[in-house]
Amino acid sequence: MGTEAKHNGGPRHVAIIMDGNGRWAQARGRPRLFGHHAGARRVREIVEACPENGVKYLTIFAFSTENWKRTQIEVAGLMSLFRRYIMKEMQDFVRQNVRVRFIGDRVRLDEKLSALMDEAEELTGHCTGTNLTIALNYGGRDEVARATKRLAEDVAAGRLDPADVDTETLPKYLDTHVLPDPDLVIRTSGEARISNFLLWQSAYAEYEFIDTLWPDFTKDEFHCLVSSYGGRDRRFGGVKA
Ligand code: IPE
Ligand code: IPE
Ligand code: MG
Repeated sequence: MGTEAKHNGGPRHVAIIMDGNGRWAQARGRPRLFGHHAGARRVREIVEACPENGVKYLTIFAFSTENWKRTQIEVAGLMSLFRRYIMKEMQDFVRQNVRVRFIGDRVRLDEKLSALMDEAEELTGHCTGTNLTIALNYGGRDEVARATKRLAEDVAAGRLDPADVDTETLPKYLDTHVLPDPDLVIRTSGEARISNFLLWQSAYAEYEFIDTLWPDFTKDEFHCLVSSYGGRDRRFGGVKA
C-alpha cells in the first residue's frame, strides 16, 4: 500500500459523543432528564449545519450498551425521549432530505421503539442529503462481538473461507458497513475518552475533546471544529506527501 498522506478540505464524516447532559441539568438544579431533553433539542441545529459545512455523514452517540447501569428512572426517561424524538422528527427529516439510520443492538430495546426506528429508516430511505446515524444501545466492543458471531456463522456454514478474513472482511459485518469511517470524532463535556464508541471505525480519526456541555453546543462551535480539521495532516501511517 502506498503512502496516503493527504490534506482534506473538510471532514466527510463527523461522529459526536454527545456528553454532559447530566451536568448541564445539575448546574441548573434540575433532574438529569431535563438535561437529556435539552440535549435532544440541540441535535436539529447540528444536523442542519452539516450541508453548509460539507459534512455528508453525521453519527451521534445517544445511548451506550453501558448506559443501562443508570437508574431505572433515567433509563426509562431516555427510552421514552427516544420514542418521542423519533416520532416528532421523522417527517422533518424527510423534508430536510436527511437519511436516518440506527446502529447498536436492537435486542434489548422495546418493540415499540424498535418499530419506530424501522419506520424512520424506511421513511427516509430515499433521502439523499445528510446521512444521520444514531447510535442507540451501541457499544464498539459489542458491535465487534456481534459481527464476529455472524462471521463465524458464515464460516461454519461454508459461506466464508477463514483464509479470506482480513481487515476488509470484518467491517462488512459491522453495523456501520454502509458508512465510511469517521474523519473527525468530537466529544463534548471535557472527558478525554471514547467510552466504547466506534472502536474499529475510528482507528485513524482525528479527535476533538471540548469542554462545552452537549446542551450548550452550537452550530458556530461545530463550524470552528470542522474548519480546524481542514488544516490537519492525516498520514494514515505514511509520510507527508
Ligand atoms: C450524555 O450525557 C447522554 C447519555 C449518556 C445518555 P450524560 O448523561 O452522560 O451527562 P453527564 O456526563 O452525566 O454530565
Ligand atoms: C458516552 O457517555 C455515551 C453517550 C454519550 C451516549 P457516558 O457519559 O456514558 O460515558 P462515560 O461513562 O463518562 O465514560
Ligand atoms: Mg456522561
